[in-house]
Amino acid sequence: MAKTLEKHLENVDSELASLILKLSSVAKVISDELPYRRGKADTENVFGEVQLVADKWADQYITNELRESGMVKTLVSEEQPEIVKLNETGTFNITLDPLDGSSNIESNNSVGIIIGIYKKDLPAQGKDMVAAMFILYGSVISLVYAVPNNVSEFINTKRGFVLRAENIKIPEPGILYGVGGLKREWLPEFKKYIEELEKDGQKLRYGGSFVGDMNQILHYGGIFAYPELVTKPNGKLRLLVESNTMAYVIKQAGGASSTGKGSILEVKPESITQRVPTYIGNKELIEKLETALK
Ligand code: AHG
Ligand code: MN
Ligand code: MN
Repeated sequence: MAKTLEKHLENVDSELASLILKLSSVAKVISDELPYRRGKADTENVFGEVQLVADKWADQYITNELRESGMVKTLVSEEQPEIVKLNETGTFNITLDPLDGSSNIESNNSVGIIIGIYKKDLPAQGKDMVAAMFILYGSVISLVYAVPNNVSEFINTKRGFVLRAENIKIPEPGILYGVGGLKREWLPEFKKYIEELEKDGQKLRYGGSFVGDMNQILHYGGIFAYPELVTKPNGKLRLLVESNTMAYVIKQAGGASSTGKGSILEVKPESITQRVPTYIGNKELIEKLETALK
């Protein structure tokens, strides 16, 4: 029988294991509540995006659960304008996208949760992360966690989260690409790069949720981008709560990330709301991209 998440976490530092387990149960509650937390809230987040009831509820629920756990010192969330202090004695600092891909809720496409785990004070560089995880609400609920050089995936069953794959490595050669942003706003060099991938037989698949779009790259290989745009030089995705976390997961699976100029994980954050052009995927495709954008 497949190993449970709990059993698998016996190989990980015990405090980190408790945190990941806590977040796994939080994720199941959120899934149960989503049918009842629908529609728009009449507020905007710090990024000027209209918040959904589900965005705000998930954010508050996770924040409260983490506060009560005592394990977390501070939290940076997409839905909160400042760093939130939780427990002075907590071991971890967390970056959180409490509900990623929330524009997919209306059409019932995939959404998820993105969590970066640090011991350093935030804002820190992505390379300082000690672990990362994401939850994907797809045909089943899956949970992926990454620690140095090891990425494991679990799916939710009647026995709880059970192991689906461990030591996941991004397949070579990659077969997909997924790119966000208006195509007419992509830089000409980037357009040309994508045309070359198409010529090589890579297929377009873009779903509009970063968790879903990255999980398919993890499983099939290829490249995801929310690129530099003509009117938005930093693209859309947020360095702390989105890009760094996925860049970390893919790195541990043997892939790479870039801002167009170097690894996302090396960016020194200037603020918790900083956005960054985001390119993540197979190493070779990232190298080719950096050459194309030079
Ligand atoms: P969020 O729902 O947390 O605000 O994130 C949305 C992000 C991400 O999930 C996705 O990659 C991208 O924005 C989708 O943007 P477009 O709607 O522009 O494709
Ligand atoms: Mn998001
Ligand atoms: Mn979000």
